[in-house]
Amino acid sequence: MNITPLSKPLLLTLLLAAGPALAAAPDIACRSNGSWDNACLRRLYQGAPGTWPKPQVDAGVAWQEMAPVPAVAPTESPRQAARVALGRALFFDPRLSAKGQVSCASCHQPEKSFTDGKPLAVGEDQLMGRRRTPPLFAAPFAAKLFWDGRVDSLEAQVVGPIANPVEMNHPIAAAVARVNGLEEHRSLIRAAFAAPTLDEAQLAWALADFVRSLRPPATAFDRFLAGRQDAFSDKELQGLHLFRTQARCMNCHNGPLLTDHGFHHIGLSYYGRRNQDLGRFEVTREKADLGAFRTPSLRGVAQAGPWMHNGVFPDLKGLLRMYGNAMGNPTAKAVAAGDPYAPPLSPLIRKLELNEADVEALAAFLQTL
Ligand code: HEC
Ligand code: HEC
Repeated sequence: MNITPLSKPLLLTLLLAAGPALAAAPDIACRSNGSWDNACLRRLYQGAPGTWPKPQVDAGVAWQEMAPVPAVAPTESPRQAARVALGRALFFDPRLSAKGQVSCASCHQPEKSFTDGKPLAVGEDQLMGRRRTPPLFAAPFAAKLFWDGRVDSLEAQVVGPIANPVEMNHPIAAAVARVNGLEEHRSLIRAAFAAPTLDEAQLAWALADFVRSLRPPATAFDRFLAGRQDAFSDKELQGLHLFRTQARCMNCHNGPLLTDHGFHHIGLSYYGRRNQDLGRFEVTREKADLGAFRTPSLRGVAQAGPWMHNGVFPDLKGLLRMYGNAMGNPTAKAVAAGDPYAPPLSPLIRKLELNEADVEALAAFLQTL
């Protein structure tokens, strides 16, 4: 039988779909014998995040408390404001691609948290990339960009997709010449760079400044962070508490963007199979990076599916059940057999005692982000 690479996790997702509905929920703060004391939870979370119960993270994990996303710094100068405006205009302009079919925003759609709803990105002439379009909310804050961290500045990153044959397929010099020939961007170019035309570095600067200005829209989570108790239903609050405690999510998804900006192998390398992707290892060739991908921000996550670097999960509850099952630890056998290239699962990923009600509460919490 020809098992496609995606079928195994999907199969597991289906197998687990029924879920251990009656599994006993372990006692945690404000829950005993499987039933929640919601008034108790409300008391724990009534103050500012700094007063909330400490999250359950392993020794040695540097974590940050949940917090509002830092606002865009006030614009330094009219020049900078013009660069952002020019970057925005270019981001939405399909003429940046060779045949005028694809803009940055074809793949990075604002209403989908700047993703495109597809498992793998599709560029000009319908050519398909190898990974899913990531949301862009972490990009203004991340020291390393892309799923594998192979680029370390937005200026260096943003022109990449223009030239990439499976994205916009346009040699940079030709794209710059095209932009310079467009009447409608001329006044913004002049305002940004005090010249009638721009060069490649300035094109990159404008696009990077626009990406740096992106912030997730304010959500129920932000209102709850600001102290509005009524922003969360009981179920959403249970989800927040589980996220911080029993489900261990804060080990990697923490801080204002709900990411540590770090790299971890959570079990999705497809090692030894078709569509193998060893992630950060392909950049560093360090064994510690085998199968490791950058932790995505969970801001706006409900709008960003299908999820993961390869878009393997079409459904958040299926994804949560797989976390509960330590992603099935697909490389366990090869690692135990001593295969030096088999990616070992991050020690932070473990089986979790999540029952169906927990999965629902966690999913409800993710919807608030
Ligand atoms: C064909 C779809 C597609 C187009 C068009 C596209 N991107 Fe992307 N973008 C992607 C994919 C896929 C990745 C992730 C690639 C990887 O990690 O290997 C990505 C990654 C990024 C990142 C890194 C985000 C992060 O946090 O790591 C930024 C920033 C970005 N794109 C900006 C842009 C800009 C600006 C444009 C237009 C010039 C653009 N993209 C055009 C698909 C696209
Ligand atoms: C060991 C660190 C780690 C832990 C613990 C962890 N995650 Fe993740 N998470 C990641 C990484 C890394 C990815 C991307 C992996 C990939 O694409 O291969 C990810 C991806 C995700 C995504 C997909 C986001 C997207 O845009 O594709 C969701 C949703 C998510 N995690 C939720 C959770 C929840 C909920 C928990 C707790 C049950 C959790 N994570 C625990 C590191 C972690």
